[in-house]
Amino acid sequence: MSKKPYMIVTIASLLILAVGCASPANTPTAAPASPTNTPQQAAPSATPLSPTATTAPPTATTAPSTATTAPSTATTAPPTATTAPPTATAAPPTATAAPTAQPTWQADGAIAPDEYAHQAQAAGLTFYWTSDDTYLYAGMSAATEGWIAVGFDPEQRMQGANYVFGYVQDDQVFIEDMYGIRPAGAGSHPPDVELGGSNDIVAYAGSQQDGVTVIEFQIPLDSGDAYDKPLTPGSHTLIAAVGSSDDFVSIHASRGATTIEID
Ligand code: HEM
Repeated sequence: MSKKPYMIVTIASLLILAVGCASPANTPTAAPASPTNTPQQAAPSATPLSPTATTAPPTATTAPSTATTAPSTATTAPPTATTAPPTATAAPPTATAAPTAQPTWQADGAIAPDEYAHQAQAAGLTFYWTSDDTYLYAGMSAATEGWIAVGFDPEQRMQGANYVFGYVQDDQVFIEDMYGIRPAGAGSHPPDVELGGSNDIVAYAGSQQDGVTVIEFQIPLDSGDAYDKPLTPGSHTLIAAVGSSDDFVSIHASRGATTIEID
């Protein structure tokens, strides 16, 4: 009978011990639960958000970067403007090249190679010419120490032609802008100024060397003078004549006609 209380105490002690052990066992179970929840919920959820949020700024960054591109485009413009001056600087050579293509013409009494775009022959006279929008630049050359002349667009024999008639005497050039008022004969082509017109020879020069006379002259393609013939682009009749004296009246030693084209 004395052993019962002891057993009761022992059982009670075991129960107490059992309860004591169960409580600490629950604590570690709860502890891992907490860290497990933290990464699983907050982190993944926050991570996607965070990149999404991070993506947004880049989008916003892209806009500024576009805006940055615009200024850079604007920055590109000045160089283009900077490029213009060199082009403008390049223009002068082009402008310099233009006269090379069109009249390197000089009123110096010498027919230089390539000075004229065209040439034609009649009555033993060679007629050289080139033109721009406003003027005819011409030269005539013949083996004579007398006068040489050309006439543009006669209507009846010598009548109606616009003449440029000249000769060289003692290194001096005598030249006249004339108009044909009769079909032939002396006095058939008086100077325009005597008819009430104007002398429209803009520039001229001449030479006489080794029996060859050369006269160069510049006239308007369309002077507006009633005693000149407008030299429109296309075909025109050219009459030519060569004299043997230094004057404006003695009859030609040779005369002829041909057709020329004005550009
Ligand atoms: C300088 C004074 C001139 C005189 C006195 C003169 C006189 C004459 C005479 C008399 C004729 C007709 C006889 C012939 O057919 O030979 C004639 C015709 C002719 N003359 Fe003149 N002439 C003069 C200037 C010129 C000039 C400057 C040119 C041309 C640039 C010219 C071109 C012609 C031509 C092409 C004929 C032939 C016309 C035809 O029959 O269709 N003459 N000239």
